[in-house]
Parts: sequence; C-alpha cells; structure tokens
Amino acid sequence: MFQKNLEDLQSVTKELLDKLESAGFSTVESLSWLTPEELSEKIKIDLEIAKKIITEAISKIDQKPISAADLLVKEEKRLKISTGSTELDNLLGGGIFTGEITEVSGEFATGKTQLCFQLCINVQLPPEQGGLEGGVYYIDTEGTFSSTRIVQIAQSNGLKPLKFLNNIAVTRTYNSDHLTFLIMNVEKIIKERNIKLFIIDSIASHFRAEYVGEDRLVSRQQAVMRLAETMKQLIERFDIAIVVTNQVIATMDDSLFDKSPHPALGFAWAHRPHQRILLRKGRDQARIARMYDSSRLPDRECVFFVTEKGISDKAKK
Ligand SMILES: Nc1ncnc2c1ncn2[C@@H]1O[C@H](COP(=O)(O)OP(=O)(O)OP(=O)(O)O)[C@@H](O)[C@H]1O
Ligand SMILES: [Mg+2]
Repeated sequence: MFQKNLEDLQSVTKELLDKLESAGFSTVESLSWLTPEELSEKIKIDLEIAKKIITEAISKIDQKPISAADLLVKEEKRLKISTGSTELDNLLGGGIFTGEITEVSGEFATGKTQLCFQLCINVQLPPEQGGLEGGVYYIDTEGTFSSTRIVQIAQSNGLKPLKFLNNIAVTRTYNSDHLTFLIMNVEKIIKERNIKLFIIDSIASHFRAEYVGEDRLVSRQQAVMRLAETMKQLIERFDIAIVVTNQVIATMDDSLFDKSPHPALGFAWAHRPHQRILLRKGRDQARIARMYDSSRLPDRECVFFVTEKGISDKAKK
C-alpha cells in the first residue's frame, strides 16, 4: 500500500516535523491511528494543533472501497506459517496466516509460549518447509522468552541456531504504555528486518496488572481497542502474521451456561482476532487445541504435543 510522507501535511511545519520524526513517526498513516490527546501528549504540543494534524492525516488516508473480487485475490495471496504439527496446521486451515491476527490462549503451561518459539523458527524456513523466509519481532511482556530453548528446538531439528537467533528481534516491555508505544512504532523494524511474524506474548499481562477495579474497566477497554486497531492496520499494510497469546480467566458469572475458562480482556478484544485457539492440557506432552469463533473455519479440536524438539504431531522423549 502506498505510504504518504509527513511532508504532505500542510498542518505540519518544519518544527513539528522534527518533533514527529524524533518521536518515531514517519508516515501519515502512523499519525492517523492516534487520538489528538495522545499526539499532544507524545510530542508536547497544543491540543488544538494536534487535532488539526490528526484530522488532516485521516483525510489523506486512502479510504476507497475495494470490491469483494479484489478482496478474494488478496485473501488468496495470504501466506502461512506451519506450526510444526500437521494436526494443528489443519485446525488453522493450513497454518498461521499472514494478514490475520491469531490469538492463542490457555492456562499456564498449556504451550502458548512454546508454540511462539516454534513459530520463531518456522517462519524463517523456506516455503517448501512451511516458512516464509522472514524475520520475527517478539514482544515479551512476561519475561519468558528463552534463547536457550530456541537453540534447543533448532538443534534438535538439525538446524544451525545462530542464523535463527539473529533473525528474532526481542523487546521486553515494562508496562502497557511501553507495549502500546512499541506497537504503534513498529513499522520501522518491520521494514528493516523483513519481519513476517509479529508475536506479543502476552497481550493481557500488563493490562490486567495495571487496570485493576471496575472504575478502570472503561479506560482499559479503550486502550485495548486502540492496540487492536493498530494491529489490524499493521497486518493490512505489511501483510505480516500477528500472533498474540492471552491468559484465561475463570468465569464467575453464574448466569452463563459455559463456565469453562475463557480468554482475558473481555469484549473489547474478543472480536479482534481472526482466529482464536484455546489450549488445554492432555496427558503428559499432549495438548488439545480448540478453534472457535473463526469467520472462515468451523469450530473443532485437535491434539498436538509439546516435546523437547518443539511442537509436534507425536509424543517424543
Ligand atoms: N525443553 C523442553 N522440553 C520439553 N517440554 C518443554 C520444554 N520446555 C517447556 N516444555 C513444556 O512446555 C510447558 C510450558 O509451556 P509454555 O511455556 O508454553 O506455557 P504457557 O502456556 O506459555 O504458560 P504461561 O501462561 O505460564 O505463560 C512445560 O510445562 C513443558 O511441558
Ligand atoms: Mg507463556
């Protein structure tokens, strides 16, 4: 998609341009995702000026409708990354798709992070081996990223680990503002490092820790919706795959029929992922994945295994 430069905006003076660039904004699109309040706060300018810039930025974005036939062509061009398990790939309609947000939720130790590690390797493989020859950007909100484990998975699959490690850019986040800032300013890294897979492990932890109590629910929902909107724009503009892990919470509401654990972050988030899989533990290395709420695939389940070699169709020592 054609990108517009900040110089195209009449409301952006030379002085403002410098401020915007040093805050990491490089295109009109990146501004259009912000609220005037956010921009005003970010680059310390008057709210009225921020409003003018955002309004002009939005008006410059190409909003022409696209025909369903063209959309089909676009959808058919989507690429996929193998998960390492044929069963899980089939459940997902072939693997993890570019142009989509895939949510992986489940209780602790169900294999969410292990699946992310496997994808970090698989996305780098050539297409005939289930990859896209692309890089990974990994946002680690829980401090559980492990290069050692990536090495173990690579080596046990006969791959040289260093090349794989070099193509994974990792950032550890400290709070939801930091996470939001990174996601809003990720385009440079996507372009520079040929990123095809963007992982956020997990989306929920900061929000759940910081936005405590009923009175903060609305502002949490708004913050989550803004992040989800930004992710949507990223997958469309760069044709990358986004994988987001999510924690689950127990249902307290007695009036609900289904009381099984469900993903955190409520309705603000629930409709955003294109694919949602919920993992649960089976015996030993076995894990059950349930696919649900997909706009293009039926609800169903499959079994896969988390082994020393990574994600697999078979249990291994
Ligand atoms: N080196 C390894 N060899 C075999 N299995 C492993 C190895 N490392 C982790 N696992 C398996 O993966 C499980 C942990 O899974 P993972 O780290 O993906 O959990 P998670 O779903 O991300 O949980 P959390 O919500 O706590 O982040 C372990 O309990 C173990 O079964
Ligand atoms: Mg984890």
